[in-house]
Amino acid sequence: MQTLAFFNITTTPLACMLSGGATNSRRQKPISAVAKLPPPTLRRHQITHSMPPEKVEVFKSLEPWASKHVLPLLKPVDKCWQPSEFLPDSTKPVNDFIDEVRALQDRTIGLPDEYFVVLVGDMITEEALPTYQTVLNSFDGVRDQTGASPSSWATWIRAWTAEENRHGDLLKTYLYLSGRVDMLMIERTVQYLIGAGCVRHGLENNPYLGFVYTSFQERATFVSHGNTARLAKEGGDPILARMCANIAADEKRHENAYVTIIEKLLEIDPNETMLAIGNMMRKKIVMPAHLMYDGRDPNIFEHFSYVANRLRIYTASDYADILEFLVGRWRLEKLEGLKSDGRCEQEFVCGLGARIRKLQERADERAEKVEPQRLKFSWIFNNHKMSNAKDVKFTLKVMINKQKSKVLFAEAGSDFVDVLLSFLTLPLGRIVMVLNDHYGDKTPAIGSLTTLYKGLSNLDDVHFPSMFDKFFCSVQKAQAHQKQNVIN
Ligand SMILES: [Fe+2]
Ligand SMILES: [Fe+2]
Repeated sequence: MQTLAFFNITTTPLACMLSGGATNSRRQKPISAVAKLPPPTLRRHQITHSMPPEKVEVFKSLEPWASKHVLPLLKPVDKCWQPSEFLPDSTKPVNDFIDEVRALQDRTIGLPDEYFVVLVGDMITEEALPTYQTVLNSFDGVRDQTGASPSSWATWIRAWTAEENRHGDLLKTYLYLSGRVDMLMIERTVQYLIGAGCVRHGLENNPYLGFVYTSFQERATFVSHGNTARLAKEGGDPILARMCANIAADEKRHENAYVTIIEKLLEIDPNETMLAIGNMMRKKIVMPAHLMYDGRDPNIFEHFSYVANRLRIYTASDYADILEFLVGRWRLEKLEGLKSDGRCEQEFVCGLGARIRKLQERADERAEKVEPQRLKFSWIFNNHKMSNAKDVKFTLKVMINKQKSKVLFAEAGSDFVDVLLSFLTLPLGRIVMVLNDHYGDKTPAIGSLTTLYKGLSNLDDVHFPSMFDKFFCSVQKAQAHQKQNVIN
C-alpha cells in the first residue's frame, strides 16, 4: 500500500493552498508547544454508500473478467520473495548470525538519520495494513462477505493483503536490527495509526472512488520505494536497495491491477467513472498514513512528509507526474460517451497536472527563501535534529574589550557549544593534559585549545552529562580516577 507524502504535505505555500491545512513552516507551532496534544481524529460526518445500488450489478457482472485479468497479476506464494531472504540468517550458528547483523549495521553507516526517518515512515504506513483491508472490504459490490468468499474481488483483496503484509514485516525487521531507530516509539506510532483509521475524506463505500484512490496510491508507493532503493544504493547499502526495489516491484504490479480495473470501468461506464476520478482529484489524494501520531508530535506526518520531500523521495512533482501518467494511461483526453457533468470533470482532471506544476514552481521559489525547518523525531535515537549540514547556522553573541583583546561575555546555543566541545573529543584534550603534566606552569599554549581546556576543567560537574566527560578533560580528576583504578 502507499507509504508517503503527497503534494499537500510539503511545507510550502502550495501545500497550504492544496491541502487546506496549516502545513506552512512559518505557521507551524514548534513541537515543544504542541506536545502531548491528542492525536488527529476522523471527521464525524462522512458520506457513505454513495454508489447507486444498481451499480452493484456492474461489479457482479465483472467477476469473470476480474478473474481473467486482475487475479493473474498476483504472484503465486512460492514465486514471491519473503523477508527472511534479505535478512540475517537466524538458522546459522549464533556467531555467524551475529556477524550478519553486524554487517547489516555496518552497511547503514553511510545512510543519514533523515533517510531513516523516511524509511520508518514508510514502514509505519505499511504496518497499518489491517486498516487498508478494512477499507477495501467497505466497498459496496466487491467486499469479502464472509472472510473467505470465493468471489474474484474478495480473492483479490485477501491475496493483495497477503502480498502487502511482507512489506511491513521486512522493513520492520531490518529497522529493528539496524539499531538506528527507537522501536518502542515506532511501535506506538503503528498502534496509534491502526487505531485512528485511514482516509479522512472517506471513500464513501464506493468502489469507483476506491479503485481510483488505490490506482494513485500504488503508483505513489512504487515511486517512493524506488527512490528509497536508489538512495540506499548511493549510501552504500545494496541489500537495503534490493529490499526497497523488490517492494517497489510489488507496488507496480498492484498499480497495474487497480489501473486495469478503472480502465475497464471507463470502457463500460465512462461517465460514472469519470465523475469518480474528478471527485477524487478534487478531494486530493491524501495518504492512508496521514493520521499518523507518535504520542508526542501531532504534526508528525507533515514533518515526515517534509523530510521525504526534501530528500526527493516523494515530492509535489511526483504527484503531478502520477496524475499525468494516469490521464495518459486511461486516455482521458480522448474519452467519449460522457454527459455534461462528465465532460466538466474530464476538462478539470486533464488540466490539473499543469496547474499543479505551475503552483509548485512558484511555491518552490518562495520555499527557497524560507529557512529550512529543523525537526525532531521520536523514532530516531536521541531525538536528533534533522537538517542538512549546509543548512545549519549557529548564533553567537560576543562582547569584546577591544583594548585588552579580551572576550567579556559570550552567548551561544547548545549546538554551538556542542561543536566547540566536540573538538576535545579528539585526542587534543589529552595532548593538553600531557603537556600540562610535563611543563607545569610553562606549558606552551596551543592556540585557543589550552584556554578552552582550562575553562572546561574549571567548570562545575553539574554542567557535564556524565563524570566521564569531566574526567576526560580534568587533570586532577583523571589522575584521581587512575589512582583509584590502581588501588582497585
Ligand atoms: Fe501496494
Ligand atoms: Fe506496500
